[in-house]
Amino acid sequence: MTDVATDVGTEQEAFDALIAADQRVEPRDWMPDDYRKTLTRQISQHAHSEIIGMQPEGNWISRAPSLKRKAILMAKVQDEAGHGLYLYSAAETLGTPRHVLNEQLLNGRAKYSSIFNYPCRTWADVGAVGWLVDGAAIANQVPLCRCSYGPYGRAMVRVCKEESFHQRQGWEILYTLSHGTPEQKKMAQDAVDRMYAPALMMFGPPDDQSSNSDKSMAWKIKRFSNDELRQRFVDMIVPQAEALGLTLPDPDLKWNEERQHYDFGELDWDEFWKVVKGGGPLNVQRLNRRIEAHREGAWVREAAAAYAAKHTETVPNLIGA
Ligand code: 3HC
Repeated sequence: MTDVATDVGTEQEAFDALIAADQRVEPRDWMPDDYRKTLTRQISQHAHSEIIGMQPEGNWISRAPSLKRKAILMAKVQDEAGHGLYLYSAAETLGTPRHVLNEQLLNGRAKYSSIFNYPCRTWADVGAVGWLVDGAAIANQVPLCRCSYGPYGRAMVRVCKEESFHQRQGWEILYTLSHGTPEQKKMAQDAVDRMYAPALMMFGPPDDQSSNSDKSMAWKIKRFSNDELRQRFVDMIVPQAEALGLTLPDPDLKWNEERQHYDFGELDWDEFWKVVKGGGPLNVQRLNRRIEAHREGAWVREAAAAYAAKHTETVPNLIGA
């Protein structure tokens, strides 16, 4: 440990100066314990969301309406797995090994995005997930490209590029359906009706119920509050819905000339907290499926560990991963 490293006051000042100068904190830099803890929390929750988020759409791969749609959907679901990988890697740079993060997911202690506890019932839902859920993810994650923690910000750059493609494919599915037969248009509208409010809830609770935002914004992990990002997203999707020929299910949605933003109705925050605490429509099913997939993947981890043991001197901890 250097002289500087033993002087916490100096290290804290150096850290504060780095944040104030909008520079990046890197894994080997000194950082306050709370900064490390909140980043590990957010990045691992984000990684878990990517992995659990593979389920609703993964279920539709075998039922996609054409070979082309199937290939596109497979690529998208595979991208989500890749996002999980970058994010677990970014989280590991903060000191918690991946298998520990994974255990937190499997034993139900870790959170993941509320949206994935809602069902994906029809092919139009796959479109609505792409347009609304990936759209919300982009709105939330573009500012995260400027996150003060280097590995997270850099991972977000690639993730956002891929999410843009995902949103576009969702839009295209909905556009095709909304310009198809009356039944197809109805199916598209029904999907949007069900996904709209849960997508808005992805941005997290209202600012006055958000326990982490103030700290995360001061540390420049988050650049905008949950409500600010939710408002941006609503402003973005209203004209997009018009272009799709679909309506958003909110009677209070209207342009506010004075604010230069759309006003929108209050969301059901009791429902949000119920889903976050495990009581959503599919929480149990999603987690059980993940536990099962982890068990089914044991042979792959064992084979990879055996290969690593044979070909390298240092054996990575793949068994628990
Ligand atoms: N679902 C589940 N839990 C949520 C949530 C949501 N939509 N929104 C907030 N929470 C949880 C928080 O994790 C926090 O719980 P904790 O203190 O026990 O960790 C609690 O509710 C209070 O919320 P805060 O506003 O204080 O929490 P944050 O400051 O962390 O803000 C966030 C929440 C906006 C989701 C933020 O963590 C964030 O920006 N995360 C990165 C993006 C992310 O995780 N996205 C997942 C979306 S899905 C995705 O990207 C997959 C893609 O394929 C679509």
